[in-house]
Amino acid sequence: MIQRKLEVTYLPFDRTTRVPPGTTVFSAAHWIGLPIDSTCGGRGTCGKCKVRVIRGGADAETADHRQLRPAEIADGWRLSCQARIYQDMTCEVPQLLRVPKAATMGLGRLVILDPNVRKVYLELNEPSMEDQRSDVARLKDALTDEGHGMVAGVSVLRTVPGVFREAGFRVTAVLAGEHLVAVEPGDTTGDCYGVAFDVGTTTLVGTLMNLRTGMAASVLSTLNGQAPFGADVISRISHGMNGPDAIQELQGAVVATMNTILAELYRDTGVSPQQTYEAVVVGNVTMLHLLFGIDPTPLSMAPFTPAFMDQLSIEAREVGLEIHPHGYIQTLPALGAYVGADIVAGVLATGVVREDRLRVFVDVGTNGEIVLGSAQRALATAAPAGPAFEGSQIKCGMRATVGAIEGVQLGDRVELQVIGGDVRAEGICGSGLVDAVAPGAAVRQGIDRDRDQGSDGHPRRDRRRPRPGPARRIVRFLSEPGKREDHRPRPARGRRPHHRGGQLRG
Ligand code: FES
Repeated sequence: MIQRKLEVTYLPFDRTTRVPPGTTVFSAAHWIGLPIDSTCGGRGTCGKCKVRVIRGGADAETADHRQLRPAEIADGWRLSCQARIYQDMTCEVPQLLRVPKAATMGLGRLVILDPNVRKVYLELNEPSMEDQRSDVARLKDALTDEGHGMVAGVSVLRTVPGVFREAGFRVTAVLAGEHLVAVEPGDTTGDCYGVAFDVGTTTLVGTLMNLRTGMAASVLSTLNGQAPFGADVISRISHGMNGPDAIQELQGAVVATMNTILAELYRDTGVSPQQTYEAVVVGNVTMLHLLFGIDPTPLSMAPFTPAFMDQLSIEAREVGLEIHPHGYIQTLPALGAYVGADIVAGVLATGVVREDRLRVFVDVGTNGEIVLGSAQRALATAAPAGPAFEGSQIKCGMRATVGAIEGVQLGDRVELQVIGGDVRAEGICGSGLVDAVAPGAAVRQGIDRDRDQGSDGHPRRDRRRPRPGPARRIVRFLSEPGKREDHRPRPARGRRPHHRGGQLRG
């Protein structure tokens, strides 16, 4: 018997899809490109994925009772990851996953331009009865004369005879290291591009580089397409544990995100995939495993063993990355299961280990890493940072997207900086939280100092009841439903509130 598919409509997007009975509202939305907000990857523990069922119905599950208030449940709110579709349904989605703000600019330092991709223009002697060398030997000899070694795969070799003769033996050889990537007719040495990717757990950043000038042609960032499977590496690994199809699903999601970025970069610059010969990809160890479709499960349990840590060089088409069809993906090596190639890239870029002075390099991403070192010695370690700051277990926590408070100045008055400028404040992200907590720590230190410096030589008891810590004031303000309409923070007596960079509305 053919099972009737059920119709589910998502508002306010007015998007409808048909799914088999038993599908969750969360999965169905994800399949049609409406990723509902989530940090737990559909495990029912983050409470971010709630939707309001307007038509049809779904029973409230245990997780609903844990994450939602009774009034919300009575009003039709359900966790979309728990709500299964057993009848036609319409639901309202208050919050989709949004593209986080990512750093796409930074300070550079001067380096000698020495890209792995080389283009060499060659005017070859045409074959004759006196010179019957093969096409490859002819090419190899000419490249050797120019100081380059060459190895060629059969897929590139297939193109060589045609291009040689079509171009009258005036060709440009494209080499990635010693790999022959392409033979192009005429002199194309003016156009040579590569792309650098930072594959973060939450965000991907792609930079199209002009390898002739060393300048970035365009930079773009977007949300990692794996986000609906969970906010942190452990959630992604857990999903991967469902078997090879799940790993393929995760791989497909990250490759699709990279290709979306590439398409935008190409559109932005007019550069074509055929002119982009190499992708250098860094990321944490789990992300690189998933990019190559390698099971990352051993990374999640002692003794935390990666399948690989060395630098890899593989043809881009093996993973479906849309650069030159014979182009290569290069990765950087990792240092450990949780200190990945992205940190190695950061260490290289900042030169932390080149100088005698001791410096610290901190990458506060979804996974946070710290390197402390100098030219003599460096130490690196890692700890989850994102989930702690950007949602999980923090009442008003959210990612650094539009509506997140990213800056807080606390004095007698509260100044808030909201991502997006003049928009409604929805919660607080990591940088805002640090801003809010840091002065609190300083105040506490001050109290401790007062206590330590009591005039009788004994620890002095502070009889004043301290004001609530600044972070508590912010959280209380954001989470009190009654106060959300009257959204402005209470000014200190006689003072006007002051906002920077955005209006605060509940
Ligand atoms: S509670 Fe549903 S995705 Fe987290």
